[in-house]
Amino acid sequence: MIVILTGAGLSAESGLGTFSDSGGLWSRFDLNEVATPQGFARDPAQVHDFYNLRRDTCRKASPNAAHRALARLKQALGDDLILVTQNVDDLLERAGAQQVIHMHGSLMGALCNKCDSRWPAPHRMRPDDLCPDCGARATRPDVVWFGEMPRAMEPVTHAIARADLFVAIGTSGTVYPAAGFVDLALEAGAKTLELNLEPSQTHDRFYRSLSGLATQTVPAFVEGLLTSRDHRI
Ligand code: APR
Repeated sequence: MIVILTGAGLSAESGLGTFSDSGGLWSRFDLNEVATPQGFARDPAQVHDFYNLRRDTCRKASPNAAHRALARLKQALGDDLILVTQNVDDLLERAGAQQVIHMHGSLMGALCNKCDSRWPAPHRMRPDDLCPDCGARATRPDVVWFGEMPRAMEPVTHAIARADLFVAIGTSGTVYPAAGFVDLALEAGAKTLELNLEPSQTHDRFYRSLSGLATQTVPAFVEGLLTSRDHRI
């Protein structure tokens, strides 16, 4: 079993911004204002604007060679590979990957804050939008904000406990629980590999930490894995 965790660095070369890097989204936007339930309660229009803009950017972006390589790996390994992403974009799916676990939700979805219904996000989400199921004026982006519970943590931790190999790609290792997955993998006796532009905050926990652009390191990693077929890193 292989578990791959991806972060914003995977989509950086598709033109989607990362978060904690210098010049990243959190240096230009106050995350307390645009990525918390409290910020949404204070100013829903501002939060919708932030996600409408990101959704727009995402729709115009295309999957890159790293997304395509991971999709190819998923197609080859099926249930032996669990793909977990912190990204709210749909670039892995558009590259052909199926069953991607979006632990921080999806930019392309709308969620009713009252009845938990979900539906595809409209082009522009507005505070006045009504839930198609219960009619409440409680529409929000279907993303996980700071202070909320990430999705699917039970199947993910279960998969890591059975993993032979855990790979983190394009993530800074600063946001939990994802930043702690490498420790769970080590406890499970898995090998651990990091592919990132630069060593992450948790790089010392990885058996190997390779620096480079995702569009170069990920296709090379996938090629090597599919050629050796024994999960050796
Ligand atoms: N290839 C590989 N790695 C890259 C590339 C690239 N082309 N560009 C940037 N990176 C690396 C950066 O060096 C950085 O370590 O990707 C990482 C991105 O880190 P963050 O911006 O912190 O993104 P991520 O780790 O996904 O953040 C996790 O935190 O802010 C929240 O909800 C947000 O899902 C996000 C979560």
